[in-house]
Amino acid sequence: MKNTVSTFLAAKQKHEKLTMLTAYDYSTAKLVNAAGINSILVGDSLGNVILGYEDTISVTMEDMIHHSKAVSRGAGDCLLVVDMPFMSYQTSVHDAMVNAGRLMKEGRADAVKLEGGTKICPQIEAITSAGIPVIAHLGLTPQSVNVFGGYKVQGKTEETAKQLIEDAFAVQKAGAFCVLLECVPAELAKLVTELLDVPTIGIGAGNNCDGQVLVNQDMLGMFNDYVPKFVKQFAKVGELMINAYRQYDEEVKNGVYPEEKHGYAIDKTIITKLRNAYTRKD
Ligand code: KIV
Repeated sequence: MKNTVSTFLAAKQKHEKLTMLTAYDYSTAKLVNAAGINSILVGDSLGNVILGYEDTISVTMEDMIHHSKAVSRGAGDCLLVVDMPFMSYQTSVHDAMVNAGRLMKEGRADAVKLEGGTKICPQIEAITSAGIPVIAHLGLTPQSVNVFGGYKVQGKTEETAKQLIEDAFAVQKAGAFCVLLECVPAELAKLVTELLDVPTIGIGAGNNCDGQVLVNQDMLGMFNDYVPKFVKQFAKVGELMINAYRQYDEEVKNGVYPEEKHGYAIDKTIITKLRNAYTRKD
């Protein structure tokens, strides 16, 4: 059955955990869906793990739409959430609505995600009023890395923890159906989860959120530029890939691959005729 906003809200009420993984292409989306994951996030982390940028600042609407379109074709029953990239919603409510609309119409998203709390509530209100479900991303919001001065845990002081709680209440009131908490102390995430009616999805936010999200390349062990503390590598797919590439390299260079069974046959008489008709033109 298709996961929807209602699935998320019902899961919170029934104390059933939600799962979300990022995906950026059709084949991966199909595999994530086959595994029964509730939701796929086309994260702007694609800037890091797909495009090789240092941060998510350079990611464009065109990047997000391109990848979202591909994922939407394989997402199946997963709720497809797409990140609004840097400066596609901060500039104005109007820009936020136009760009959220593009992610839904062109990217075939089911919902959009925005980074920020109280400050972007007017955008959340407008987007949800237009019928577009919103996830609000709080805590470590990577688009603000230059303000934070690095990728640091957020909400560790009383003042910043209070601000995070206020932000969570504000985005819920503005209409967000879910709050994503990144890199916040586990006890704070637990408190926010208890205080909110809408579900929380955590990443680096402990085990008491209503659900969890991870970046696909991180959890598969395919991305080693940096591995945050909260990442568990559920497989060593990167190693498997390198071994497969090495074997391919060896087999091609040693004439082992391709074998006869990998090729296509032609009538021998035709080849004989062709050999008689053609010679090298040196
Ligand atoms: O862009 C992304 O992948 C994200 C996750 C880290 C939650 O926002």
